[in-house]
Amino acid sequence: LKITVLLGGVSAERDVSLSSGLRIAAALREKGHEVICLDPAEGVLTRETERGLLATGVGSAPPSLAALAGMAAQSLSPTLGTLPEVTEADCVFLALHGGQGEDGTVQALLDMVGVPYTGSGHLASALAMDKHLSKVVLRAAGVATANWMMAPTDGSVLDPHEVGRHLDWPVVVKPSKQGSTVGLSIVREPEALAAAVTEAFKYDDEVMVERFVPGQELTVGILGDQVLPTIEIVPMKELYDYECKYTPGMAKEFVAELSDEVQSKLADQARKAFDALKLGGYARIDFRLDPQGQPWCLEANTLPGMTPTSLIPQAAAAAGVLFPDLCERIVNLALA
Ligand code: DAL
Ligand code: MG
Repeated sequence: LKITVLLGGVSAERDVSLSSGLRIAAALREKGHEVICLDPAEGVLTRETERGLLATGVGSAPPSLAALAGMAAQSLSPTLGTLPEVTEADCVFLALHGGQGEDGTVQALLDMVGVPYTGSGHLASALAMDKHLSKVVLRAAGVATANWMMAPTDGSVLDPHEVGRHLDWPVVVKPSKQGSTVGLSIVREPEALAAAVTEAFKYDDEVMVERFVPGQELTVGILGDQVLPTIEIVPMKELYDYECKYTPGMAKEFVAELSDEVQSKLADQARKAFDALKLGGYARIDFRLDPQGQPWCLEANTLPGMTPTSLIPQAAAAAGVLFPDLCERIVNLALA
């Protein structure tokens, strides 16, 4: 097949996306497909550029907002749908993370030009990217998710007493539509709330404050009809942050050892979340498991990371699906 991998882009997860996309491209070429890597910000990557970027890896922090603002100015996204690399592809493999690549914008553009693409459609993508709306839908569907509130968007200060009344400390402060833990902090006392909210607002115009769920960090991958083995994550730092996510050796990831009861509860909640958010193809649903054995859904990721340290590739491998087969399965799901 002729497959165009869309990667890079201008979100804070640009470097993660380059890593995911280059690995996907290599895997699909190994499977015999004709693959082009297209970065909406930079155009088609030469094989030499690809090799250089592969050697660079993800890095320990996201690119600066100033650097990203500079790239946004030269982004090709409005004309993406007219590029031959897109219109002539049998399938576009979306390896973009965050921003317009994950929030349904690019998906809608590809719908308009009639090119099949991997993963969820535009409505599901928009919904899953918005953690607040996701949680509303998840609750309505019977998927447990921790209590939360939104910071005011009119510039007024979020009252720590109000947070204390609605949620217990500690709380997690995060941009509502962002990935890879960018702009996220755990806040343990009221005095630290304002700084965390200000930091989160750098990355989004909506900020969420959520009850912190103590316990284990777990994730469940869905691949078509299959629920992949649950992966547990134990980061080297207290928080599974950007650095722990993308630096080899900074987190341990392994198949979680859970009772049958907890395992089936998790699988059920993950599938319910997938269906409620109208996700398509594949996705990764993240959870915290509290000490009482209750899973709390954090969010669904419609374009989960496919980097060397990412979780879906590990979950697939645990189910006997090697990376090139995983990538090909995702393409086949898009064409089905
Ligand atoms: N947002 C990152 C790429 C993930 O969910 O894996
Ligand atoms: Mg996420």
